[in-house]
Amino acid sequence: MFESIRVAKRAAVGADTIVLGYFQGTKPDTKSAGLDAKAIAEAASRPEATGESGSMSEAFVTTKTGARRVILLGLGKSESFEPGTLRHVAGVVGRRLVAIKSTSVGFALDAAIKHGKGDEFAVACAVGEGLGLLSWVCDQFRGKATTLPSRTKLSVHGEGAFADGAVRGLALAESTNYCRTLSQTPPNVATTAWMAEQAKKLARKTGLKIKVFQGQDLVRERFEGLINVGKASENKPCMIRLEYSPRGGGNKKPLVLVGKTMTYDSGGLSLKINNSMVGMKRDKDGGCAVLGAMHAIATTIRPSRPVVALLAVAENSISDEAYRPDDVLTYRNGVTVEVTNTDAEGRLVLADALCWACEKESPQAIVDLATLTGGVITALGSTYAGMFCEDDKLRGKVEAAAGAAGERVWRLPMHAEYREMMKSPIADILNSNPNRKAHAGQGAAFLSYFVTEKTAWCHLDIAGVHVAERNAGAFIEGPTGWGVRLLANLAEEF
Ligand code: BES
Ligand code: MN
Ligand code: ZN
Repeated sequence: MFESIRVAKRAAVGADTIVLGYFQGTKPDTKSAGLDAKAIAEAASRPEATGESGSMSEAFVTTKTGARRVILLGLGKSESFEPGTLRHVAGVVGRRLVAIKSTSVGFALDAAIKHGKGDEFAVACAVGEGLGLLSWVCDQFRGKATTLPSRTKLSVHGEGAFADGAVRGLALAESTNYCRTLSQTPPNVATTAWMAEQAKKLARKTGLKIKVFQGQDLVRERFEGLINVGKASENKPCMIRLEYSPRGGGNKKPLVLVGKTMTYDSGGLSLKINNSMVGMKRDKDGGCAVLGAMHAIATTIRPSRPVVALLAVAENSISDEAYRPDDVLTYRNGVTVEVTNTDAEGRLVLADALCWACEKESPQAIVDLATLTGGVITALGSTYAGMFCEDDKLRGKVEAAAGAAGERVWRLPMHAEYREMMKSPIADILNSNPNRKAHAGQGAAFLSYFVTEKTAWCHLDIAGVHVAERNAGAFIEGPTGWGVRLLANLAEEF
């Protein structure tokens, strides 16, 4: 929506528009903002100034340096306020800034900062994220029949911790927006080779190490899932490995991030029916989120621990070479899998990455992101990602990182019965039990056969949260880039 956003280290009152936040049931604090109390009191008494989260009422005031528009921005009830509220309302106010063609904005958020125990940096970070996420547009597939609207450049005025926080928020939003653009790219463009190209570009730009396993490499490394799931497509599968290594931190064990990267999921021979195939270009969003996180890690977070990313990339298609229900696959860790449903393909390729990570990377922890099951959408909708993690310490860290990012996770159970449910009459395990029970849990139970017992591991099923259905707050209809900021925050905690 904006052409660009930058932070100008200047006083907030110098901007053409000043956003003054206040909680429901309180009066806007004109004193701390240094603004004309009378004009603001008048705006605050208008019926639209409800104080509800995202409500707005405007005043026009004159300061020493000129005329200003003041937007009184409701922050909702103080009891239910969290930094995430600001991310959302910054998106709401950002839409207004676009409509009024504002080119500079300052924020007077003392009320929120005091409520957040003085953490001005966190408040500003949420504002930066909200504005940055709002500014995502993907118009590269518009053609001659569309006239693109003109867009304005916005500068956010702020000083000290506010400026620093806003810079971080905007940077994290940029990494998220990079992920969203990848997600949005259609499957005839975003092929498996294209994904590898994007990862190479990212590595070149940010100094990450990269290796792409393809063709005979896959055979040599016994990436059985990728080879089989990818067989039917002319777009050949690959495993992308990216590595961030901090200066002087080389001997620490890495955090390993794994992403399901299905450039298209037709279901394979167990073909998806009717309209359930539409949108399956987004079946690569686990991997896109991992790429976005690696962007943030290499450019913004720069953690002191190494981070390894593994993207299992394939297209689940149909041809005479397609893998079939009834095939049996043998993985590099010795586990055999009877394929019962070629549409449960994500777990088959993730298994390669998980085996590899446990065997080769000596991981401190593994976190995988995958649009794995429709079942998680039934269970949690678009409100929470499903989280499977039996390691208390890692789970605590993931929950904290998720909270700071405003990306909600809800723990779902791992149980021996789910692992039992995956047993096959002829091989070790099935890739899907046709009993239709606990689909999300089945996915996690399947994956657990490929993670060594002592390894701290968290599986996030993001099928419900990777895409937004409507315009709201900082998001528009389309990809949300879910997980980029969670993983970036998490890498900082290791
Ligand atoms: N990519 C899908 C899961 C999915 C469904 C993501 C809807 C986003 C929206 C996955 O590969 C799949 O097809 N899962 C099946 C598993 C079943 C065959 C065991 C499902 O959930 O129906
Ligand atoms: Mn599928
Ligand atoms: Zn899939």
